[in-house]
Amino acid sequence: MTIETLVLNINKAPDIQRAKDILLKGGRVAIPTETVYGLGAIATNEHAVKSVFVAKNRPLDHPLIVHVGNEAQLDYWVDDISDIARKIMKACWPGPLTLIFKKKPHVSSLISAGLDTVAIRMPRLESIRTLIAALPNGLVAPSANLHKQLSPTSAEHVIHGLGGKIEAVLDGGNCDVGLESTILDVSGNELQILRAGPYSQQQLADIANVPIEMPTNHSVKVAGNMKAHYQPRKPLLLVRSEDINAYISKNTAEKLAVLHVSELPNNDNTYFSLSKDRNDYGRMLYQFLHQADQTGADKIIVEVTPVVATWAEVMNRLERAAHD
Ligand code: TXA
Ligand code: MG
Repeated sequence: MTIETLVLNINKAPDIQRAKDILLKGGRVAIPTETVYGLGAIATNEHAVKSVFVAKNRPLDHPLIVHVGNEAQLDYWVDDISDIARKIMKACWPGPLTLIFKKKPHVSSLISAGLDTVAIRMPRLESIRTLIAALPNGLVAPSANLHKQLSPTSAEHVIHGLGGKIEAVLDGGNCDVGLESTILDVSGNELQILRAGPYSQQQLADIANVPIEMPTNHSVKVAGNMKAHYQPRKPLLLVRSEDINAYISKNTAEKLAVLHVSELPNNDNTYFSLSKDRNDYGRMLYQFLHQADQTGADKIIVEVTPVVATWAEVMNRLERAAHD
């Protein structure tokens, strides 16, 4: 069934009010955050939460992140917060860090997918925090894309993937950070990164002043742990810098969309030039992948330079985006 998806403007008070009304009635509103757009619904409305899974075509065994507007809302979900967790919250919230806590017994198992933990994030955009704080207890907000596809970093991306399936999107322009939050599990004795992201392992270890693990494999079903995720529709191949010139000159039969960092010879392909600066690279990566997916190219090529290869959050996304 197709429904009309309203495009609302984050800078207009009546539009914010409209978004609130839709949410309070149990509707879904995609919201901008500093990382990617999330598909918001009132977290304590089971029906609304279920409809988020439906719109995304997301399996029910994938838990959702609860987004809170302030620390009072956090109290609804968790109580047992360690001193280290508090230190990390103080340094990183609001910001691109999701924390996994032991959940209170009343927390819906739909949100936690049957786990005894719950994921919480306090987004950085002030207007969104104000919106969330005005709603009861917080919003669930998985990335506002169809399951396994690329996360959206603009309202247009949201419409492209979920237009006709959700009640509204609140347009707040392009996301500043552009990659999903780091997920850090603070529910046990050892602190573990479950998904690499904008806050690096080193930064978090420096803040916490304790070692932080980043297992390459863990049993929790998080996006960063699945082989296929964050995928554009076109095939995507990773090519190392030293091989990319040869690859491009050999592949004359195929049209390529090339995301590159090094200078490359200009020919018939479509080129997207990424910055050597990590923040700029992160901000533009999904923008370019979305654009590359819209070109007439047969395949997307992403150059992996030695420095890019050391960026865990970027490589984590690229390795999962690659497919035939
Ligand atoms: O930056 C972000 O985190 C964005 C914005 C919208 O906030 N949200 C986002 O949500 O990326 P989503 O649902 O696409 O990814 C959240 C990941 C999922 O892979 C999920 O499995 C994991 O968080 N997760 C949620 N609750 C969890 C829990 N209790 N334990 C372990 N992983 C959890
Ligand atoms: Mg996602």
